[in-house]
Amino acid sequence: MVASDVASCTKCRLHETRTNTVFSRGNPEAKLCFIGEAPGADEDAQGIPFVGRAGQLLDKMIHAMGLDPDKDVYVCNIIKCRPPGNRRPEPDEVASCIPYLHEQIAQIDPKVIVALGNTSVGTLLGTKLGITKVRGSWKLYRGRIPVMPTYHPSYLLRSSPQQAEAKRQAWEDLQAVMKELGLARPARG
Ligand code: URA
Repeated sequence: MVASDVASCTKCRLHETRTNTVFSRGNPEAKLCFIGEAPGADEDAQGIPFVGRAGQLLDKMIHAMGLDPDKDVYVCNIIKCRPPGNRRPEPDEVASCIPYLHEQIAQIDPKVIVALGNTSVGTLLGTKLGITKVRGSWKLYRGRIPVMPTYHPSYLLRSSPQQAEAKRQAWEDLQAVMKELGLARPARG
């Protein structure tokens, strides 16, 4: 079972500094899967993905889609252990960890994946193009599952002159996801 393999994993250096491995949250039967980068401090402490500030925003976005974060979606990351100081995962760490995610996706078999931010998009789609270039247009994971690349919620939390526009674009991306899943469009909450 992939979750227990992850829990005892020592394939890369990140196991030395982790408190907990961080596998998933939500519903393994969900049609929609959100994939982020790697656990942060809150996730490492609790062993659950997206429980910090970025996670709170992600849940707000999921609610705005008219969905329940516990019942209607599955949430996980490219990397299952926290990189110290929240640095970007190193390529060899991604290479060690990614087979777990491939197996996870095979088991969940979602109808749609939302890839959050550069690491997720770059790893799932094998592109080096930045998120501002690729967001908003459908791609395919392994030639089969539609992937919508969009901004990572941490980026949307950062105050910048582009913040309002990025939020508007992220909402547009999620509306495209809702359309793909045949979901009614709720009023923006
Ligand atoms: N950022 C991520 O990419 N994943 C988490 O689980 C938390 C923050």
